[in-house]
Amino acid sequence: MSFTKFSLALCAILSTLLPLTTAQAPEGKPYTDPKTNITFSTWEIGESSGSGPFTFGLALPPNALKTDATEFIGYMKCAPSNGWCGVSLGGSMTNALLVVAYADQKQNVKRSLRFTSKYTLPGVYEGNATISPIASEVEKDSFTTVFRCEECLRWAQNGTEGSAATSSGNLDLAFAVEAEGPDQGCPDEAKFRKHSGQGTWVGFVDNSTVSESYESWAGKAETVRGGGC
Ligand code: HEM
Repeated sequence: MSFTKFSLALCAILSTLLPLTTAQAPEGKPYTDPKTNITFSTWEIGESSGSGPFTFGLALPPNALKTDATEFIGYMKCAPSNGWCGVSLGGSMTNALLVVAYADQKQNVKRSLRFTSKYTLPGVYEGNATISPIASEVEKDSFTTVFRCEECLRWAQNGTEGSAATSSGNLDLAFAVEAEGPDQGCPDEAKFRKHSGQGTWVGFVDNSTVSESYESWAGKAETVRGGGC
């Protein structure tokens, strides 16, 4: 193979690999959501396999750097607007709490907490975590959702336990994105098809992730019965 052909082949290989390996700076970028005025540490993951970009944001109670928090306020910006996206709070699809979000055909953003021990469609999480919406918006190319997730930073199901230790200063996180959302139905019954993109990253938790305003922000969350069916 000539040098030019070799370089072209190398470029082609790299251009297919790069979107899947978009490295994340562990330091989150501070972002204040204009709708809620809540400030998050955010990580944006570039487009991959026709889905994304995906942004995850985290806001934590004021003492979360000293004592492990059990809850957080999350921000998810997912694209395209008719796809689904999800985050793993333990850095792996298996044996960690998963938060999945999508916009239904009536343009309402829905969320579901899932758990699985295998690389197959995750079932509904059976532990006592609660996810409650604060604000959501569907736009042409993306949707966003801000939610409170109580008892979400430690999990237990079928003898498997795990947690995300906020006092350690860094969290193992992972994401999944897919351009086609689930069919109609309740969020906890939704059958998500396999994601076209996924990856892991480490997120640092620092002074911009925690806030004295946490309680007042969390107080804006609504209680939605039956997973918002
Ligand atoms: C039918 C549904 C699903 C199937 C068959 C599936 C399968 C897989 C497989 C095989 C992998 C390993 C990487 C690969 O080979 O592609 C993976 C990774 C991943 N999946 Fe899923 N998945 C499904 C749904 C979900 C859902 C709903 C979430 C929600 C967040 C999710 C989150 C992840 C994450 C974060 C990764 C990357 C971390 C890891 O490899 O453990 N998956 N999935």
